[in-house]
Amino acid sequence: THEYETILVERRGRTGLITLNRPKALNALNLQVMNDVVDAARQLDRDPDIGCLVLTGSAKAFAAGADIKEMQPRGYMDMYVSDWFTAWDQFAAVRKPTVAAVSGYALGGGCELAMMCDILLAADTARFGQPEIKLGVIPGIGGSQRLTRAVGKAKAMDLCLTGRMMDAEEAERAGLVSRVVPAGELLDTAMEVAGTVAGMSAPVAMMAKESVARSFETTLTEGVRFERRLFHATFATEDQKEGMAAFVEKRDPEFRHR
Ligand code: CAA
Repeated sequence: THEYETILVERRGRTGLITLNRPKALNALNLQVMNDVVDAARQLDRDPDIGCLVLTGSAKAFAAGADIKEMQPRGYMDMYVSDWFTAWDQFAAVRKPTVAAVSGYALGGGCELAMMCDILLAADTARFGQPEIKLGVIPGIGGSQRLTRAVGKAKAMDLCLTGRMMDAEEAERAGLVSRVVPAGELLDTAMEVAGTVAGMSAPVAMMAKESVARSFETTLTEGVRFERRLFHATFATEDQKEGMAAFVEKRDPEFRHR
């Protein structure tokens, strides 16, 4: 794999691990980080030897937000014409399952990036927030939308309007994260979860992801229909044959497409 300036990329088995690595700025997400993460994620997404992606930061910060110093001098024309942040949508569009492993600060763009991932795991040291309002701006990488869908209006309004931080326990209670683990176990847990997902049939895992993701986009009736069609489609895969045969024969499945 090629070297990036602001991230580390590793392949461990069928899991691709992306580690944000701008320690001096608490992993603030500047344009270089955006381009590096998007490039690495797209490459891993295309790689048939990869079944799941993990995105993590440092112990102190997953990411403390978009880079404030980079944005400070800019004006409306510049932000609008360059469509600032738009490349992040390509990370959200990754088709393979993604896991965020969050330790320390996940603020602003950091929280938004974590929320783009499919499974959000938090260390007990994690702190989430959308503090943009304190800078005179609002979230710009989907925070007001994904946070509201994840935790509901009450907490989303509270966080976006006061800029306060939410600790890991509150984030789990609110449904933002699926598990909280001791900080020292975060990466191992994330790699284990990713390994489990990567051991499934890759196309079927993609369909499961696509189906859950669809619930954010559509009505219940349309979502259920979408799910049903993909469910039917799994019966066109060899992995459905294998998965069900393995159950009947009381053995572990050997999925072909992984
Ligand atoms: N952008 C640029 N630099 C940042 C940064 C950011 N978001 N967050 C931290 N840094 C830099 C600091 O400027 C500091 O650099 P120097 O050593 O050169 O001074 C370095 O990282 C270490 O940070 P602190 O000294 O502030 O560390 P701390 O432990 O005292 O505080 C913190 C940690 C509470 C997270 C604090 O750094 C902070 O409040 N950061 C900004 C959080 C924020 O407002 N995020 C939202 C950004 S806007 C956004 O994300 C828009 C969007 O919707 C995408």
